[in-house]
Amino acid sequence: MENYNLDKNSIIAIIGCGAMGSGIAQVSADYGHNTIVYDINEDVINKSKTKLFVSLDKLVEKGKFSQDKSDKIKNNIKFTTKLEDISNSSLVIEAIVENLEIKQNIFNKVEELVSPNCIIGTNTSSISIASLTSKLKYKERFLGIHFFNPAQILPLVEIIPSLLTSSDVLNQTKTLIDNWGKLTILTKDTPGFIVNRIARPFYSESIRIFEENIADVATIDWALKTISGFRMGPFELMDYIGHDVNYVVTETVWKDMFYDPRFKPSISQKRLFESGQFGLKSGKGFYDYSENAVKVIPNEDINLGNVIFMRVLAMLINEAADAVYYNIASINDIELAMTKGVNYPKGLLLWADEIGIDKILITLDNLYELYREDRYRASVLLRTMNKNNQKFLS
Ligand code: NAI
Repeated sequence: MENYNLDKNSIIAIIGCGAMGSGIAQVSADYGHNTIVYDINEDVINKSKTKLFVSLDKLVEKGKFSQDKSDKIKNNIKFTTKLEDISNSSLVIEAIVENLEIKQNIFNKVEELVSPNCIIGTNTSSISIASLTSKLKYKERFLGIHFFNPAQILPLVEIIPSLLTSSDVLNQTKTLIDNWGKLTILTKDTPGFIVNRIARPFYSESIRIFEENIADVATIDWALKTISGFRMGPFELMDYIGHDVNYVVTETVWKDMFYDPRFKPSISQKRLFESGQFGLKSGKGFYDYSENAVKVIPNEDINLGNVIFMRVLAMLINEAADAVYYNIASINDIELAMTKGVNYPKGLLLWADEIGIDKILITLDNLYELYREDRYRASVLLRTMNKNNQKFLS
């Protein structure tokens, strides 16, 4: 019987020093852990370290962080390109490229270095925890620990046990991440977990509207920000997340849902991914981020904006309702997930209650009638609730 024990004195290792790894490392170091950040690429390590230190200095200048807090984080993080340096860790969180084989490969190496009492977590957005566990020697010590971008700011963390994760590993991990000041929600090992499953239409339905030439990307972003109150438009957000991550998540969820057309990826995003136009990080995605780029002006037609808003929102609510129907998570956790994990202005189920489930159904059924595509089939739960005049939150 292994003895798992996570507390303030535990050494935490983060594998991968990209957008997510560096954010998670900051959270861990801020709590007081000795934090080791490993990356295969020395250049990335140097850039990430400089970026983190510069951002901490700026936060101190602006009075948002004390000098002590900034110094504590800097002193607690050690960057390395030698994987052996993680050997004394009690918890390893992997945040490297979203690829099953590459992740499985690193877990095998990690298992050779750390003690059997070390808990191993993955920050994967969409790969099943069961498949990532399959090649491990000690499968009960492994689980999903899914932070949101930027990890040092967004409070939500999805905790995803596989069927083989021990209850001790689950409890120790959940307690530690709660102590880090995060809001953890327990999530089933299903495609996209909670947030990335329910959020798919925010991207895919917006791209569909763009591909059908109903509106350009700036107009769709304007509609969803101004009319619906989303903090970022879908195209700005996809460019910010990176199409190398966002496209791969969409494709993985679609495949893992046995090619359900509701989750079907789009050709235009696939081409951006294939061309290396990942968005902000590569200088071009749906938008051009070069110095001389011409700013795209949205068409601020309120009627068009409302059509875009209702279509995307109805698809999001449909996904949230189906997640309730299939018992993926509770109504409360679904509301928390979407407001705290991706900063939605309102929980989707509350939104459905406010607008009226009947109106959401009419929007979906009109789309279904028009396109005759399974993509637009309404959740059974919406239909039954409408028939019985029910609301989600009362
Ligand atoms: P990223 O591309 O910014 O960083 C990945 C890092 O991993 C790079 O620094 C790369 O050098 C390193 N790396 C690649 N292969 C490696 C290996 N074999 N050994 C060690 N280091 C290696 O990616 P990002 O965005 O940080 O994503 C990392 C993980 O987090 C992915 O699984 C992604 O799905 C997940 N995630 C991403 C979110 C996002 O919004 N970007 C949100 C939540 C989860």
